[in-house]
Amino acid sequence: MVRVRPMNLRLDGEAVLALQQETYCANFPGFQYGIEFEREFSRQLRHAERPDREELFVAEMNGQVVGFLWMGTLLAEFSPEPVQAIVKNVSVAPERRRQGIGRLLIQHGESWAMAQGARRVRLQVTVSNAAAVALYHDLGYSVDRYEMTKPLGSVSESGGLTPNG
Ligand SMILES: CC(C)(COP(=O)(O)OP(=O)(O)OC[C@H]1O[C@@H](n2cnc3c(N)ncnc32)[C@H](O)[C@@H]1OP(=O)(O)O)[C@@H](O)C(=O)NCCC(=O)NCCS
Repeated sequence: MVRVRPMNLRLDGEAVLALQQETYCANFPGFQYGIEFEREFSRQLRHAERPDREELFVAEMNGQVVGFLWMGTLLAEFSPEPVQAIVKNVSVAPERRRQGIGRLLIQHGESWAMAQGARRVRLQVTVSNAAAVALYHDLGYSVDRYEMTKPLGSVSESGGLTPNG
């Protein structure tokens, strides 16, 4: 039986941190995971735990943390739905995937978002993260904006960076 509850940073912090290496590497190709990242992530969690417009949740199964969800809200000035929610981070323990926990977490986050007055929820996901993209599609999310990137410079034969043509 899985239940979603507010995260307790002191009790759940280590388990949540353990889920982040894969999450960040899946979403930011080339990401270098290390102690500096862990410190900064922990600092951000402490900040998010304060009572403001963010909320941290964990999924718990038999007393073990098996998933994490970080929700926030934002003001989208140019939208007909100015109060929106954002999924900042969702992760499920590898050995517990494809059991509906990611879906349960996001649905829980959507209920939280509606209770905050949000009428739209948005998120960013890296195209190559097929599992996450599939999860969001499954839950009815669609693409309404593209975030586009282009590497600047290319490596020359001598190993230096040259501008792209
Ligand atoms: C993305 C993630 C949270 C999904 O969690 P999950 O608990 O495995 O997802 P669910 O079991 O709730 O899946 C719900 C639906 O999403 C889709 N889905 C999830 N994982 C999938 C996969 N690997 N391949 C294809 N479809 C997938 C399916 O439609 C699935 O329904 P089904 O199992 O009935 O077919 C999990 O893979 C994860 O933690 N990945 C690493 C962290 C990460 O990248 N997070 C996203 C940050 S943007």
